[in-house]
Amino acid sequence: MSPQEESDCPRFDQAHSFSSSDRRISALVRHLTVPTHASPMDSISAAPTSAFGTADSVFAHVVQAPEDPILGVTVAYNKDPSPNKLNLGVGAYRTEEGKPLVLNVVRRAEQQLVNDRSRVKEYLPIIGLAEFNKLSAKLIFGAESPAILENRVTTVQCLSGTGSLRVGAEFLARHYHERTIYIPVPTWGNHPKVFTLGGLSVKTYRYYDPATRGLNFQGLLEDLGSAPSGAIVLLHACAHNPTGVDPTLEQWEQIRQLMRSKGLLPFFDSAYQGFASGRLDADAQSIRMFVADGGECLVAQSYAKNMGLYGERVGAFSIVCKSADVARRVESQLKLVIRPMYSNPPIHGASIVATILRDRDMYNEWTVELKAMADRIISMRHELFDALRARGTPGDWSHIIKQIGMFTFTGLNSEQVAFMTKEYHIYMTSDGRISMAGLSSRTVPHLADAIHAAVTRMG
Ligand SMILES: Cc1ncc(COP(=O)(O)O)c(C=O)c1O
Repeated sequence: MSPQEESDCPRFDQAHSFSSSDRRISALVRHLTVPTHASPMDSISAAPTSAFGTADSVFAHVVQAPEDPILGVTVAYNKDPSPNKLNLGVGAYRTEEGKPLVLNVVRRAEQQLVNDRSRVKEYLPIIGLAEFNKLSAKLIFGAESPAILENRVTTVQCLSGTGSLRVGAEFLARHYHERTIYIPVPTWGNHPKVFTLGGLSVKTYRYYDPATRGLNFQGLLEDLGSAPSGAIVLLHACAHNPTGVDPTLEQWEQIRQLMRSKGLLPFFDSAYQGFASGRLDADAQSIRMFVADGGECLVAQSYAKNMGLYGERVGAFSIVCKSADVARRVESQLKLVIRPMYSNPPIHGASIVATILRDRDMYNEWTVELKAMADRIISMRHELFDALRARGTPGDWSHIIKQIGMFTFTGLNSEQVAFMTKEYHIYMTSDGRISMAGLSSRTVPHLADAIHAAVTRMG
């Protein structure tokens, strides 16, 4: 059965899941680094197994996997004994003192939850906490969103942004006729893996222009313009990671018109709502433009950054449909995706979010704390820019203040990054991305010295 034929008969779920698991298995095989001199089967049979031996493990053939390129930065940082070391690789907010931050409003919400003796630890439903889902949809689409009022949105609680993307990918692989997803170049390093292993095939569209350190808008329009009708397009809702480059509202409008005219399906990744501008509504604007036209879209939401709930793994996945009836059926199928994956999501993080979002006073406190985080990041941009100017560092560094969100895509190359790590103990991903949230007024001069030296000595 061709993929097209399969997609034309959505009831044959068995056939669907076979073909998407086939795709996943072949993708997995591609991901595994098997030495060229031996197939995995050879190495299994070459290693004799014994029920009691320790040296001849049945897993002896397993090769050492490389560190994750982003999380590996922290592994290397942790091993460095230097007192001046600086970790700008991690995508997590740090205070001016370089410490992780638990928001005061989160502490308050948790206290309230602990004090409530009626709370129990029962399983949540497959799609999570109903109130959390409702409030998350309102947060991203706006309380007055016609799609919500018309019950055209289905929202399910997922394991943060990553889990939401993965559930979305698997749903699309099973139920959508076009299995190609276009992702921007560059993008968050986990995107291609999540989508490939979720059963989609990944293609790219141009996004960043290294010459201007800004958006390659023309390239983006050309690539989306030549994508096949119906293809899925991954869009960063705001604070694009890793570049910090977002389209303007006028550019978003052009993207929307192009995508709608070609029937491309938008899949928004919203990992930074409120973190880019400090304003929750402003950072959801791109998504709301697509919802306002009455068309369909998918949205993965994360509370990792904007509520500082990184380790609680709390997020939401929404599909905006054309009718309430479709939304209901879509939700029933999302349950079938989630149930064999992790059964149902954890309760604590979602309860914190629901406690904050339902209470006007706590919600207001959250917006103030969120704006303070965004403002500190913006002030770090200005301090770094000023420090480089003061040093007369060659080059135009205005992109540091033009880019938005947690990251600056510095334009430093991998040799310069390696130099800064070796000589200045500054850690970042090899593409030159630095987390502005990891900087402080105290550490800006150290970073500026390092960039200055890297640029002047390493060309
Ligand atoms: C663009 C983007 N999407 C999704 C995520 C997923 O984050 P999490 O799974 O922690 O919510 C991140 C995290 O860095 C991100 O930058």
